[in-house]
Amino acid sequence: MLKAVFSNKDLSLFDEYFDCVKDLVNDRNILRLCEFSHHSGTTRFQHSLNVSYYNFLLCRRLHLDARAGARAGLFHDLFFYDRREHEPVKGEGWHGVGHPKIALSNAGEMFSISELEGDMILNHMWPLSPRLPKHRETFVITLVDKFCAVAEVMSHFLSVGTARFRLAEVFALTLLVRMTLH
Ligand SMILES: [Fe+2]
Ligand SMILES: [Fe+2]
Repeated sequence: MLKAVFSNKDLSLFDEYFDCVKDLVNDRNILRLCEFSHHSGTTRFQHSLNVSYYNFLLCRRLHLDARAGARAGLFHDLFFYDRREHEPVKGEGWHGVGHPKIALSNAGEMFSISELEGDMILNHMWPLSPRLPKHRETFVITLVDKFCAVAEVMSHFLSVGTARFRLAEVFALTLLVRMTLH
């Protein structure tokens, strides 16, 4: 069952979303992301799915390109190494700045991507990365990526039973719901 953090919806039954990504979620290159831990208790595939889903909802809500948002979410961290062990090559920069370039290169080699999706991948770490996003959808993914990272860490601590994170869960949920549904 495909499920995003803080959601019980089976995404494979949510046609409007699933139609945008059904060729990607079973692709062997995207599924390789299951092999890598990304945030506490979350694989890179699950993180990418979370960003894809909430990006879709928020872009749709804002009348932006929700299909590109859903697809770019699955591409934005398309790199195949453990970031704790990765040695940047010359000119790549530190991980926070370098991995979007690697993800863009991988996505361009493995899939057909649009200019908009490319901007969303390349600049999803803004403002850490120096380039200003060219599209409104890219500003959306910069926010969704960060909120998903927080939600994943919260979800992990909640799953191991630390009750003191309940308030933090409510806070993260409120932010996500306000961003996606209101
Ligand atoms: Fe990233
Ligand atoms: Fe990310």
